[in-house]
Amino acid sequence: MIINKLIAKNWRNFQLIDVPLRERQFIVGPNASGKSNLLDIFRFLRDIVKVDGGGFQKAVKDRGGVSNIQCLATQNVTEVALEIHIAETSCSSATWRYGIGFRRETREDCDAYLTHERVWQEDQLLLDRPDADDTEDPDRLTQTALEQSATNAKFREIGKFLRNITYLHLVPQFIRYADKIQGKIIEDDPFGQGFLHRVASVHPSTRRSRLKKIEHTLKIAIPQLEKLEFVHDKNTGHPHLQARYEHWNSTQAVHQEEQFSDGMLRLIGLMWSLLENDSIVLLEEPELSLNLGIVAQLAPLISRMGRDRQCQMLVSTQSDVLLKEGCIDSSEVHLLLPANEGTTVMPFSDFVEVGALLENGFTIGEVVLSRTRSEKVEMLSLVE
Ligand SMILES: Nc1ncnc2c1ncn2[C@@H]1O[C@H](COP(=O)(O)OP(=O)(O)O)[C@@H](O)[C@H]1O
Ligand SMILES: [Mg+2]
Repeated sequence: MIINKLIAKNWRNFQLIDVPLRERQFIVGPNASGKSNLLDIFRFLRDIVKVDGGGFQKAVKDRGGVSNIQCLATQNVTEVALEIHIAETSCSSATWRYGIGFRRETREDCDAYLTHERVWQEDQLLLDRPDADDTEDPDRLTQTALEQSATNAKFREIGKFLRNITYLHLVPQFIRYADKIQGKIIEDDPFGQGFLHRVASVHPSTRRSRLKKIEHTLKIAIPQLEKLEFVHDKNTGHPHLQARYEHWNSTQAVHQEEQFSDGMLRLIGLMWSLLENDSIVLLEEPELSLNLGIVAQLAPLISRMGRDRQCQMLVSTQSDVLLKEGCIDSSEVHLLLPANEGTTVMPFSDFVEVGALLENGFTIGEVVLSRTRSEKVEMLSLVE
């Protein structure tokens, strides 16, 4: 199952988003255009249905409250609203539709109140709030039906689906120095602080098979690499990744993650997460720290792994090289176009001149990046 349509009103720097989504969808835009904000919509929906202490109020609070979420570019915001369509494929009609609206209303310690919550199964409306019970007890509007097992029996499948959404924005230093930092791990570990423990926690045979696949890809990027292994430190018991290299001096031929390059760590983390998940994976700018040769291979890699595991990949990027690959369809790319009145999300295929440019030998990357580059970017070099 995938989310094949997203509608959002007044979410962060977007007044309105209304776009279809493919199995592999690239979200392309310059700095501060809202790539992370857009991906955060899916994390928000996941947070509502989290088993261990999630919920609508916490999801709003974690984002600084409704006043932080609602779009500052909209005058007199009446509500923030989200709707998703869940379907078998990007071309099928929706099996489920889920929509919520909420607004700010400071009462006691609650900040967010639902203005509506609706669930459709195919064309049948299963839930339409506020209902009679909500009118009788308005406090009920501080919780979604999705997070309450007593009220969501008919559409529990939606919650199960959203719960598996994974977000990944690996920070190599967190993996490398996890033991030394020993800090509090951020909920859901989006930055990879607990990555090595995640690797340690899976069954040894699964771990071996995943590392083998990763090793295979790494060998293409790093030809001297001979083997990627998982080990436990004999003294401390801490988990480590270890790479063996073909090296003229065999005493120096083993490196642990502290010595891995940023790009190598990000690639390992990226592939592990793709192998680990079979729902929706949100990837933030996967091109960071990778050399251009590898970036050029990311789109087919993501696509292959998505197909194998039948999951959806929503990928934010600023890289024209990542979008160079010939088999990216123009409907797989959405452009974020920032303006004073907020950012608009434009399916790349909606630009009239795109077909002609592609036929004349331009790659999607070249056309996209020329549209998203800031006109003032050259002025950076003039800053004294
Ligand atoms: N509620 C809001 N209304 C309008 N703009 C917002 C709101 N919240 C955040 N922003 C703006 O969104 C931008 C950051 O978007 P972000 O998703 O981090 O960009 P990107 O990931 O593309 O670099 C910032 O310019 C910030 O000011
Ligand atoms: Mg970002």
